[in-house]
Amino acid sequence: MGMTEYAAEQAEAFAANRQLDPDAAAHWREAVARHLRPRAGTRVLDLGAGTGTWARLFTDWYGIEMVAVEPSAEMRARSVFPGMLAGDAAALPLPDAYVDGAWISTVIHHVTDLGAAAAELRRVLRPGAPVLIRSAFAGRHEQITLFRYFPEAIRVLDGYPSVEQVRDTFTTAGFEFVALEQVPQVSAASLAQAVANLRRAAHTPLQLISDAAYAAGLDRMRTAARVAGPDATPVVDRLDLLVLRRDGMRDGMRDERSDEVRDGK
Ligand SMILES: C[S@@+](CC[C@H](N)C(=O)[O-])C[C@H]1O[C@@H](n2cnc3c(N)ncnc32)[C@H](O)[C@@H]1O
Repeated sequence: MGMTEYAAEQAEAFAANRQLDPDAAAHWREAVARHLRPRAGTRVLDLGAGTGTWARLFTDWYGIEMVAVEPSAEMRARSVFPGMLAGDAAALPLPDAYVDGAWISTVIHHVTDLGAAAAELRRVLRPGAPVLIRSAFAGRHEQITLFRYFPEAIRVLDGYPSVEQVRDTFTTAGFEFVALEQVPQVSAASLAQAVANLRRAAHTPLQLISDAAYAAGLDRMRTAARVAGPDATPVVDRLDLLVLRRDGMRDGMRDERSDEVRDGK
């Protein structure tokens, strides 16, 4: 098990509190398309798919085939995406070279053996396929609203893998670094809505602070929401998107390569 367990309480809270609607995630739609370059026949692994939000969004947005793998039976039971597979980052129930890309959203800090996960991902990805990691990383809390009200949670975040750790682990396993960018999303229509919908069990950093620190943060957030009033602006958070690419060449590049081989280059 990783940092927290996705038992019934966490799964219930996650299903209730952590769903992004398609409009709120519009910037993610654009960023993912830029790196994944989805087209007819593209098949993508959603690793640690949770309650299936992203697998469903990707299917709707791009019309591609999603393969969703999730270890927690409680999360799978609440999935909005049918046909989720049981499995773990270090033991994927998929054949070799099966997928054209992998999406890993807010999962990486739960993976206990990141090296084993990177090797397993390399096995199931086709040559040249991208891995898109959406996450909060150690040291990068500034653009995430909750950390403003729950500063004790920053220490928890700092126990997550850093961008450098993840990048180095993947490059050792046969990936190359492609990009790191911060992608905005509308997490709530207002701070008042954010605090009304907040479920502690849906957020690993909030579960791992003391009850007193959580209560104090909730007070700070409620006060700020009252001060902001009814005309409050939406809550916009920016999570990181780290993109890596499996070694080898993509399908589209293979033809060019065979020409080169034929021409003796
Ligand atoms: C914060 S949730 C994110 C769910 C989903 N990816 C999303 O963004 O909505 C973290 C998920 O990672 C899963 N997880 C934990 N350890 C894992 C592992 N070793 N391999 C794959 N998934 C794992 C959990 O069961 C949980 O569903």
